[in-house]
Amino acid sequence: MKNKILCLSAALVLIMASCKEDKTSNDTVAQPETAQYKGTPMSDEFDAKIDSIVGQMTLEEKIGLLHGYSMFTNEGVERLGVPELHMADGPLGIREELQRMSWAKLGLDNDFATYYPAGAGLSATWSPELAHTFGRSIGEEARARGKDVLLAPAFNIIRTPLGGRTYEYMTEDPFLNKTLIVPYVVGVQENNVAACIKHYAANNQETNRGTVNVLMDERTLREIYLPAFHDAVVKANAYSVMGAYNKFRGDYLCENPYMLQDVLRDEWGFKGVVISDWDAVHTTKKALEAGTDLEMGTNAPSFDEFWFANPLIQAVKDGKVTEAEVDVHAKRILKLLFNVKAMGNTDSRAEGSLATEVHYKDAYNIAAESVVLLKNNESLLPLNTQEVKSIAVIGPNATAKHAQGGFGAGVKTKREVTPLEALKAKLPESVTINYAEGYKTLFKPKKEMKFGEVTQEAKETVTDVDPKMIAEAVEAAKKSDIAILFVGANRDYETEASDRIDLSLPFGQEKLITAVKAANPKTIVVFVAGAPYDINNVEKENSTIVWSWYNGSEGGNALADVLLGTVNPSGKLPWTMPKQLSDSPAHATNSFPGEDTVTYQEGILVGYRWFDTKNVEPLYPFGYGLSYSDFELANATANKKSYNEDETIAVTIDVKNTGNHDGKEVVQLYVSKAKSAVERAAKELKGFNKVLVKAGNSKKVTIKVPVKELAYYDKNSKGWVVEKGDYTFKLGNSSKNITQEVTVTIQ
Ligand code: BGC
Repeated sequence: MKNKILCLSAALVLIMASCKEDKTSNDTVAQPETAQYKGTPMSDEFDAKIDSIVGQMTLEEKIGLLHGYSMFTNEGVERLGVPELHMADGPLGIREELQRMSWAKLGLDNDFATYYPAGAGLSATWSPELAHTFGRSIGEEARARGKDVLLAPAFNIIRTPLGGRTYEYMTEDPFLNKTLIVPYVVGVQENNVAACIKHYAANNQETNRGTVNVLMDERTLREIYLPAFHDAVVKANAYSVMGAYNKFRGDYLCENPYMLQDVLRDEWGFKGVVISDWDAVHTTKKALEAGTDLEMGTNAPSFDEFWFANPLIQAVKDGKVTEAEVDVHAKRILKLLFNVKAMGNTDSRAEGSLATEVHYKDAYNIAAESVVLLKNNESLLPLNTQEVKSIAVIGPNATAKHAQGGFGAGVKTKREVTPLEALKAKLPESVTINYAEGYKTLFKPKKEMKFGEVTQEAKETVTDVDPKMIAEAVEAAKKSDIAILFVGANRDYETEASDRIDLSLPFGQEKLITAVKAANPKTIVVFVAGAPYDINNVEKENSTIVWSWYNGSEGGNALADVLLGTVNPSGKLPWTMPKQLSDSPAHATNSFPGEDTVTYQEGILVGYRWFDTKNVEPLYPFGYGLSYSDFELANATANKKSYNEDETIAVTIDVKNTGNHDGKEVVQLYVSKAKSAVERAAKELKGFNKVLVKAGNSKKVTIKVPVKELAYYDKNSKGWVVEKGDYTFKLGNSSKNITQEVTVTIQ
């Protein structure tokens, strides 16, 4: 313990003592070039070999490649040396091994994996480097577990704050989304594992996800919902794509010629494999001919009955589907196998590693940069362990683990450090912890959540806090110098296959928060959750609020380090926290969840684009997050006054850390176009740069914006158009806090 105290004080001294000398560094920090994260395209060098192998296959063997033959593989062709394609979920870490024929666990002792922060946490880092770390690290685990395809990343746009998978997805903004997804995919595929980018596309709600028909105009599709998929295919060269459950413009996404053929293959040049979401195929001929290659799903009634199994054999025999069509899809599967070195150069295939200290450190680094400081009015944070002698630690999220829960993929891990464990290990012995659970968190859904038939209602839940538990918490708070509440939600409450019913905080926790605050005015509220909630009252009553996520194996350590000041918070919200649900675009336009059809009435005005354009005040804006330091932006300039379409604009700005702590700031650049021929959002994110600035120092930061990034999608010419004229770049540290402006002209 003594060593720990020494380390802690040394680290604190380091942070605090880099105090306010007014040093100006001439370092220029350029925005990470996204070009450095270019993926390797699929190679054609094995095509002749593939033709020859497919030429030797029977029809049945070829078709065996095209459908699930166990829960997470297709069928291989042993006599020709074609292995099964091994797939695994998913975004939070490599899922544990399941039975071949059912969802039951295998119960192995060698499939424990690292639990990585869920998508919302990763996107709150605003760090392409950490996204690359994430991809590389999880890719290594996939290899060590013998996988060929990782069913991740998942990055559908957050259209509604109620979305069940908000915690798992990334953001409401297409630019942030694509900037993080490209390095993620590149990192995964560096390990000879294919990323399966999902869920393609326009899959933004769980309610009726198996049937709902999504409608939106073409410009909205191109500008909001497709950019990250486009870049994942075109720049990162993702080797596989997962077709979503829902319909788009009348056709299921796994049998949608427009999305699978015209856009994905013809426009973007995708050469990889389209894998269906589990049970998302509904036809044989239509789905195959539209471009789905591999039908996956559950074993019901049997894998032979899949649309791409016996019915496909029959369709070929009846002359309804040609064998040449089957060959096209079989060859794509083989091409993927060769490109990930499951065939061919297998000796040089990456071996990977599983649940190593290095991977836990990767998970820690991501978590540490994801925590968002929402409010610190009385400077209760960072905790001053010289003065504080006792801390009440209250709430179920002080001890809860989130690697598993709800419907959908979790991770079996040996390590998930909780906030209470981390605080116990990190606080000096002089500080006493008074722990109280606070409230119970039971949540059982009303319906068996299979295809998200309903917006989630509870069959069994707790909605009120037990008075005895409040009394215990109040007592702990009263006898402590400071109280820290660990509240929020869990992965039973926020889950795949159902959307939340409203934004209210679950389990009656508000009552507890109010009672603890009344008992001890020095109360810090820490939320652990993956999606926006109605925290208006908490915001009004409390001076100090921290937001953390389902944050992986090291989530508790990262959070404790932020509270103690060994890490200066630098996370920024990846979505808007509304004051009320009806302020959010999909709800303001009354276009969620729809019935058989859902029409995205808000069009391009998703997330902050809506709030800014319609002048609606959010509770906390997109891009917002405080630090223990203050930063000032000054002297924004562009390298020229006017540009043509092929140029790149370089905006340079000074970032000064005026506080007492070294820290990272995310400089955000939004564009605004007055007098446009088309509808425009008041501002749109077009660049950002996360930069470390020492206390008292200043750094020059450059953000590069290719002029083409300013284009809008023109539905008449079916292409991107850069409108000429003046554009104003608005720079700040959230979408609302804009402190610098530069205007440039495009000729
Ligand atoms: C999810 C996918 C997942 C698949 C396999 C589906 O329910 O939508 O994201 O990869 O199950 O577990």
